[in-house]
Amino acid sequence: MEETEKIVEEAQQEIATAHSSRALYEAKMKYLGRTGKVTALLKGMREIAAELRPAFGKKVNDLRTRLETLFASMEEKIKARELEEKLSGEQIDVTMPGRKHARGALHPITRTRQELIEIFAGMGFEIFEGPEIESDYYNFTALNTPADHPARAMQDTFYITEEFLLRTQTSAGQIRLMEKKKPPIKMLSPGRVFRADDDATHSPMFHQMEGLVVDRHVTLCDLQGMLDEFARTMFAETSKTRLRPSYFPFTEPSVEVDVSCAACGGKGCSLCKGTGWIEVLGAGMVNRRVLENCGLDPDEYTGFAFGMGIERIAMLKYGIGHIRSFTENDVRFLKQFQD
Ligand code: PHE
Repeated sequence: MEETEKIVEEAQQEIATAHSSRALYEAKMKYLGRTGKVTALLKGMREIAAELRPAFGKKVNDLRTRLETLFASMEEKIKARELEEKLSGEQIDVTMPGRKHARGALHPITRTRQELIEIFAGMGFEIFEGPEIESDYYNFTALNTPADHPARAMQDTFYITEEFLLRTQTSAGQIRLMEKKKPPIKMLSPGRVFRADDDATHSPMFHQMEGLVVDRHVTLCDLQGMLDEFARTMFAETSKTRLRPSYFPFTEPSVEVDVSCAACGGKGCSLCKGTGWIEVLGAGMVNRRVLENCGLDPDEYTGFAFGMGIERIAMLKYGIGHIRSFTENDVRFLKQFQD
Protein backbone atom coordinates (compact mmCIF):
# COMPACT_ATOMS: atom_id res chain seq x y z
CA MET A 1 0.00 0.00 0.00
CA GLU A 2 2.80 2.34 0.89
CA GLU A 3 4.57 1.28 -2.26
CA THR A 4 1.70 2.61 -4.38
CA GLU A 5 1.99 6.08 -2.87
CA LYS A 6 5.70 6.06 -3.52
CA ILE A 7 5.11 5.07 -7.12
CA VAL A 8 2.69 7.94 -7.66
CA GLU A 9 5.19 10.46 -6.34
CA GLU A 10 8.01 9.02 -8.37
CA ALA A 11 5.93 8.96 -11.54
CA GLN A 12 4.71 12.53 -11.04
CA GLN A 13 8.31 13.61 -10.78
CA GLU A 14 9.23 11.86 -13.99
CA ILE A 15 6.22 13.19 -15.85
CA ALA A 16 7.10 16.73 -14.83
CA THR A 17 10.64 16.43 -16.09
CA ALA A 18 9.83 14.65 -19.38
CA HIS A 19 10.49 17.18 -22.12
CA SER A 20 9.68 15.24 -25.27
CA SER A 21 7.06 12.71 -26.35
CA ARG A 22 9.84 10.17 -26.59
CA ALA A 23 10.96 10.71 -22.94
CA LEU A 24 7.35 10.68 -21.78
CA TYR A 25 6.67 7.44 -23.62
CA GLU A 26 9.69 5.81 -22.00
CA ALA A 27 8.53 6.94 -18.57
CA LYS A 28 5.06 5.61 -19.25
CA MET A 29 6.45 2.21 -20.18
CA LYS A 30 8.47 2.17 -16.95
CA TYR A 31 5.22 2.24 -14.96
CA LEU A 32 2.41 1.01 -17.15
CA GLY A 33 4.26 -1.11 -19.71
CA ARG A 34 4.31 -4.90 -19.76
CA THR A 35 7.34 -5.01 -17.44
CA GLY A 36 6.44 -1.76 -15.66
CA LYS A 37 6.20 -1.17 -11.92
CA VAL A 38 2.39 -1.05 -11.75
CA THR A 39 2.09 -4.19 -13.77
CA ALA A 40 4.56 -5.82 -11.38
CA LEU A 41 2.32 -4.91 -8.44
CA LEU A 42 -0.64 -6.60 -10.09
CA LYS A 43 1.42 -9.68 -10.74
CA GLY A 44 2.40 -9.74 -7.05
CA MET A 45 -1.27 -10.11 -5.94
CA ARG A 46 -0.77 -13.80 -5.31
CA GLU A 47 1.54 -13.08 -2.40
CA ILE A 48 -1.03 -10.92 -0.62
CA ALA A 49 -3.21 -12.42 2.09
CA ALA A 50 -6.64 -13.34 0.67
CA GLU A 51 -8.62 -10.97 2.91
CA LEU A 52 -6.47 -7.99 1.90
CA ARG A 53 -6.57 -8.79 -1.80
CA PRO A 54 -9.79 -6.91 -2.79
CA ALA A 55 -8.62 -3.71 -1.10
CA PHE A 56 -5.17 -4.04 -2.59
CA GLY A 57 -6.54 -4.75 -6.05
CA LYS A 58 -8.71 -1.67 -5.91
CA LYS A 59 -5.77 0.45 -4.77
CA VAL A 60 -3.57 -0.71 -7.63
CA ASN A 61 -6.33 -0.20 -10.16
CA ASP A 62 -6.93 3.32 -8.88
CA LEU A 63 -3.22 3.92 -9.13
CA ARG A 64 -3.20 2.76 -12.71
CA THR A 65 -6.12 5.01 -13.65
CA ARG A 66 -4.49 8.00 -11.98
CA LEU A 67 -1.23 7.45 -13.75
CA GLU A 68 -2.95 6.98 -17.06
CA THR A 69 -4.73 10.31 -16.64
CA LEU A 70 -1.53 12.05 -15.65
CA PHE A 71 0.36 10.65 -18.62
CA ALA A 72 -2.46 11.49 -21.01
CA SER A 73 -2.70 15.11 -19.98
CA MET A 74 1.06 15.58 -20.15
CA GLU A 75 1.13 13.85 -23.50
CA GLU A 76 -1.40 16.32 -24.83
CA LYS A 77 0.64 19.28 -23.59
CA ILE A 78 3.87 18.00 -25.07
CA LYS A 79 2.25 17.17 -28.42
CA ALA A 80 0.76 20.64 -28.66
CA ARG A 81 4.10 22.24 -27.86
CA GLU A 82 5.96 20.05 -30.36
CA LEU A 83 3.49 20.89 -33.11
CA GLU A 84 3.84 24.56 -32.31
CA GLU A 85 7.64 24.28 -32.57
CA LYS A 86 7.43 22.35 -35.83
CA LEU A 87 5.14 24.90 -37.42
CA SER A 88 7.18 27.90 -36.41
CA GLY A 89 10.39 26.20 -37.57
CA GLU A 90 8.98 25.40 -41.00
CA GLN A 91 8.34 28.87 -42.26
CA ILE A 92 8.55 29.18 -46.04
CA ASP A 93 10.54 32.03 -47.48
CA VAL A 94 8.49 32.93 -50.53
CA THR A 95 11.23 35.26 -51.77
CA MET A 96 13.64 32.32 -52.33
CA PRO A 97 14.16 31.46 -56.00
CA GLY A 98 12.35 28.22 -56.96
CA ARG A 99 14.04 24.97 -57.85
CA LYS A 100 13.90 24.21 -61.56
CA HIS A 101 13.02 20.72 -62.71
CA ALA A 102 14.69 19.48 -65.88
CA ARG A 103 11.97 18.90 -68.42
CA GLY A 104 12.05 16.63 -71.45
CA ALA A 105 10.79 17.58 -74.89
CA LEU A 106 9.36 15.82 -77.92
CA HIS A 107 11.85 14.82 -80.60
CA PRO A 108 11.58 17.13 -83.63
CA ILE A 109 10.46 14.18 -85.78
CA THR A 110 7.70 13.27 -83.33
CA ARG A 111 6.74 16.90 -83.14
CA THR A 112 6.61 17.34 -86.91
CA ARG A 113 4.66 14.11 -87.31
CA GLN A 114 2.12 15.31 -84.77
CA GLU A 115 1.83 18.66 -86.50
CA LEU A 116 1.19 16.94 -89.83
CA ILE A 117 -1.38 14.63 -88.29
CA GLU A 118 -3.15 17.59 -86.74
CA ILE A 119 -3.34 19.42 -90.07
CA PHE A 120 -4.74 16.45 -91.98
CA ALA A 121 -6.94 15.16 -89.15
CA GLY A 122 -8.60 18.56 -89.35
CA MET A 123 -9.47 17.74 -92.97
CA GLY A 124 -11.02 14.41 -91.98
CA PHE A 125 -8.16 11.96 -92.58
CA GLU A 126 -7.89 8.78 -90.50
CA ILE A 127 -4.58 7.25 -89.44
CA PHE A 128 -3.50 3.85 -90.74
CA GLU A 129 -0.19 2.23 -89.85
CA GLY A 130 1.22 -0.60 -91.94
CA PRO A 131 4.07 -3.02 -91.05
CA GLU A 132 7.75 -2.06 -91.40
CA ILE A 133 8.64 -5.52 -92.66
CA GLU A 134 6.60 -5.72 -95.83
CA SER A 135 6.15 -8.21 -98.61
CA ASP A 136 7.49 -7.44 -102.06
CA TYR A 137 3.88 -7.55 -103.27
CA TYR A 138 2.63 -4.62 -101.14
CA ASN A 139 5.77 -2.54 -101.44
CA PHE A 140 6.16 -2.94 -105.22
CA THR A 141 4.06 -5.33 -107.29
CA ALA A 142 0.60 -4.14 -106.22
CA LEU A 143 1.86 -0.57 -106.65
CA ASN A 144 2.27 -1.28 -110.35
CA THR A 145 5.98 -1.97 -109.97
CA PRO A 146 6.49 -5.62 -111.03
CA ALA A 147 9.83 -7.40 -110.60
CA ASP A 148 11.28 -6.33 -113.95
CA HIS A 149 10.13 -2.71 -113.64
CA PRO A 150 12.95 -0.18 -114.03
CA ALA A 151 11.43 2.01 -111.28
CA ARG A 152 12.61 -0.53 -108.71
CA ALA A 153 16.07 0.86 -109.29
CA MET A 154 14.85 4.28 -108.00
CA GLN A 155 15.06 2.86 -104.48
CA ASP A 156 17.86 0.76 -103.02
CA THR A 157 15.94 -1.87 -101.16
CA PHE A 158 16.98 -3.86 -98.09
CA TYR A 159 15.72 -7.35 -98.86
CA ILE A 160 15.28 -9.82 -96.00
CA THR A 161 14.33 -12.79 -98.17
CA GLU A 162 13.25 -12.94 -101.77
CA GLU A 163 9.68 -12.28 -100.63
CA PHE A 164 10.15 -9.93 -97.67
CA LEU A 165 11.88 -6.56 -97.37
CA LEU A 166 12.09 -3.47 -95.18
CA ARG A 167 9.46 -1.21 -96.72
CA THR A 168 10.99 1.53 -98.85
CA GLN A 169 7.82 3.65 -98.83
CA THR A 170 4.63 4.04 -96.80
CA SER A 171 2.76 3.70 -100.12
CA ALA A 172 2.48 -0.01 -99.27
CA GLY A 173 -0.19 1.07 -96.78
CA GLN A 174 -2.36 2.35 -99.65
CA ILE A 175 -2.85 -1.21 -100.89
CA ARG A 176 -3.42 -2.67 -97.43
CA LEU A 177 -6.11 -0.12 -96.71
CA MET A 178 -7.88 -0.28 -100.09
CA GLU A 179 -8.05 -4.08 -99.82
CA LYS A 180 -9.95 -3.67 -96.57
CA LYS A 181 -12.04 -0.57 -97.05
CA LYS A 182 -14.35 0.71 -99.77
CA PRO A 183 -14.37 4.42 -100.72
CA PRO A 184 -14.80 7.10 -99.53
CA ILE A 185 -11.24 6.79 -98.24
CA LYS A 186 -9.18 9.50 -96.57
CA MET A 187 -6.10 7.89 -95.11
CA LEU A 188 -2.98 9.29 -93.48
CA SER A 189 -0.16 6.82 -92.89
CA PRO A 190 2.96 7.81 -90.95
CA GLY A 191 5.87 5.44 -90.51
CA ARG A 192 9.51 4.49 -90.79
CA VAL A 193 10.93 3.49 -94.15
CA PHE A 194 14.33 2.09 -95.15
CA ARG A 195 16.65 2.57 -98.11
CA ALA A 196 20.32 1.88 -98.68
CA ASP A 197 21.13 5.56 -98.92
CA ASP A 198 23.39 7.78 -96.81
CA ASP A 199 24.40 11.44 -97.23
CA ALA A 200 23.61 14.89 -95.81
CA THR A 201 19.93 14.68 -96.75
CA HIS A 202 19.41 10.89 -96.90
CA SER A 203 19.65 8.31 -94.14
CA PRO A 204 19.07 4.53 -94.32
CA MET A 205 16.07 4.91 -92.02
CA PHE A 206 13.71 7.84 -92.24
CA HIS A 207 10.05 8.70 -91.81
CA GLN A 208 7.33 9.28 -94.35
CA MET A 209 3.79 10.53 -94.22
CA GLU A 210 1.52 9.03 -96.82
CA GLY A 211 -1.85 10.41 -97.81
CA LEU A 212 -4.58 8.74 -99.86
CA VAL A 213 -7.99 10.01 -100.93
CA VAL A 214 -10.31 7.83 -103.03
CA ASP A 215 -13.91 8.58 -103.90
CA ARG A 216 -16.08 9.46 -106.87
CA HIS A 217 -15.02 12.62 -108.78
CA VAL A 218 -11.70 13.21 -106.99
CA THR A 219 -9.44 15.41 -109.16
CA LEU A 220 -5.91 16.79 -109.27
CA CYS A 221 -7.39 20.19 -108.28
CA ASP A 222 -8.55 18.65 -105.01
CA LEU A 223 -4.99 17.50 -104.42
CA GLN A 224 -3.49 20.92 -105.02
CA GLY A 225 -6.15 22.72 -102.96
CA MET A 226 -5.47 20.43 -100.06
CA LEU A 227 -1.68 20.78 -100.38
CA ASP A 228 -2.02 24.59 -100.46
CA GLU A 229 -3.87 24.41 -97.17
CA PHE A 230 -1.16 22.11 -95.78
CA ALA A 231 1.65 24.47 -96.88
CA ARG A 232 -0.04 27.52 -95.36
CA THR A 233 -0.51 25.79 -92.01
CA MET A 234 2.88 24.09 -91.91
CA PHE A 235 5.14 26.84 -93.28
CA ALA A 236 3.79 30.35 -93.73
CA GLU A 237 0.43 32.04 -94.26
CA THR A 238 1.67 33.21 -97.67
CA SER A 239 3.04 29.81 -98.83
CA LYS A 240 2.05 28.58 -102.27
CA THR A 241 2.51 25.23 -104.02
CA ARG A 242 3.59 24.37 -107.55
CA LEU A 243 3.13 21.04 -109.34
CA ARG A 244 5.81 19.75 -111.72
CA PRO A 245 5.33 16.69 -113.92
CA SER A 246 7.11 13.64 -112.59
CA TYR A 247 6.92 9.87 -112.62
CA PHE A 248 5.84 7.22 -110.10
CA PRO A 249 4.56 3.82 -111.26
CA PHE A 250 1.54 3.97 -108.92
CA THR A 251 0.26 7.43 -109.90
CA GLU A 252 -0.77 8.80 -113.29
CA PRO A 253 -0.30 11.65 -113.83
CA SER A 254 2.49 12.02 -111.25
CA VAL A 255 3.74 15.29 -109.85
CA GLU A 256 6.56 16.63 -107.76
CA VAL A 257 5.26 19.32 -105.39
CA ASP A 258 7.24 22.44 -104.55
CA VAL A 259 6.41 24.94 -101.81
CA SER A 260 7.41 28.59 -102.16
CA CYS A 261 10.56 29.18 -100.10
CA ALA A 262 9.51 30.41 -96.65
CA ALA A 263 13.01 31.74 -95.93
CA CYS A 264 13.02 34.33 -98.74
CA GLY A 265 9.33 34.46 -99.62
CA GLY A 266 10.05 33.18 -103.12
CA LYS A 267 12.62 35.78 -104.16
CA GLY A 268 15.46 33.28 -104.20
CA CYS A 269 18.08 32.56 -101.54
CA SER A 270 20.73 29.99 -100.62
CA LEU A 271 18.15 27.62 -99.09
CA CYS A 272 16.12 27.38 -102.32
CA LYS A 273 19.28 27.72 -104.44
CA GLY A 274 17.95 30.90 -106.02
CA THR A 275 14.82 29.27 -107.45
CA GLY A 276 12.28 30.51 -104.88
CA TRP A 277 10.85 26.97 -104.64
CA ILE A 278 11.58 23.93 -102.50
CA GLU A 279 10.59 20.40 -103.38
CA VAL A 280 8.67 18.82 -100.53
CA LEU A 281 6.79 15.76 -101.76
CA GLY A 282 5.70 13.38 -104.49
CA ALA A 283 2.10 12.89 -105.45
CA GLY A 284 -0.34 12.10 -108.23
CA MET A 285 -3.64 10.57 -109.24
CA VAL A 286 -3.85 6.91 -108.16
CA ASN A 287 -3.01 4.77 -111.19
CA ARG A 288 -5.99 2.82 -112.60
CA ARG A 289 -3.99 -0.37 -112.27
CA VAL A 290 -3.48 0.17 -108.56
CA LEU A 291 -7.23 0.61 -108.04
CA GLU A 292 -7.84 -2.56 -110.05
CA ASN A 293 -5.26 -4.46 -107.99
CA CYS A 294 -7.35 -3.62 -104.93
CA GLY A 295 -10.65 -4.60 -106.51
CA LEU A 296 -11.91 -1.07 -107.09
CA ASP A 297 -13.48 -0.03 -110.40
CA PRO A 298 -11.32 2.77 -111.88
CA ASP A 299 -14.27 3.97 -113.99
CA GLU A 300 -16.24 4.59 -110.83
CA TYR A 301 -13.57 5.79 -108.45
CA THR A 302 -10.61 8.11 -108.74
CA GLY A 303 -8.16 9.20 -106.12
CA PHE A 304 -4.95 11.00 -105.32
CA ALA A 305 -1.99 10.04 -103.18
CA PHE A 306 0.95 11.91 -101.78
CA GLY A 307 4.05 10.96 -99.82
CA MET A 308 6.45 13.22 -97.98
CA GLY A 309 9.60 12.76 -95.92
CA ILE A 310 9.02 13.91 -92.35
CA GLU A 311 12.75 14.63 -91.88
CA ARG A 312 12.69 16.81 -94.97
CA ILE A 313 9.69 18.80 -93.73
CA ALA A 314 11.33 19.25 -90.30
CA MET A 315 14.64 20.31 -91.89
CA LEU A 316 12.88 22.97 -93.96
CA LYS A 317 10.67 24.18 -91.16
CA TYR A 318 13.42 24.42 -88.52
CA GLY A 319 16.41 25.15 -90.77
CA ILE A 320 18.26 21.88 -89.95
CA GLY A 321 21.25 21.31 -92.23
CA HIS A 322 22.10 17.65 -91.73
CA ILE A 323 19.74 14.68 -91.50
CA ARG A 324 22.02 12.93 -89.03
CA SER A 325 21.17 15.54 -86.39
CA PHE A 326 17.91 13.66 -85.84
CA THR A 327 19.61 10.45 -84.73
CA GLU A 328 22.79 11.69 -83.02
CA ASN A 329 20.96 12.42 -79.75
CA ASP A 330 22.97 15.58 -79.09
CA VAL A 331 21.12 17.23 -76.20
CA ARG A 332 22.15 20.70 -77.40
CA PHE A 333 20.31 20.04 -80.66
CA LEU A 334 17.27 18.41 -79.04
CA LYS A 335 16.94 21.11 -76.37
CA GLN A 336 16.12 23.70 -79.02
CA PHE A 337 12.75 22.05 -79.57
CA GLN A 338 11.49 22.69 -76.06
CA ASP A 339 8.40 24.87 -76.03
N1 PHE B 1 6.24 6.69 -102.39
C1 PHE B 1 6.86 7.79 -103.11
C2 PHE B 1 8.32 7.88 -102.64
O1 PHE B 1 8.65 7.33 -101.62
C3 PHE B 1 6.16 9.09 -102.83
C4 PHE B 1 4.76 9.10 -103.39
C5 PHE B 1 3.69 8.74 -102.58
C6 PHE B 1 4.52 9.51 -104.69
C7 PHE B 1 2.40 8.75 -103.09
C8 PHE B 1 3.24 9.55 -105.19
C9 PHE B 1 2.19 9.17 -104.42
O2 PHE B 1 9.13 8.50 -103.27
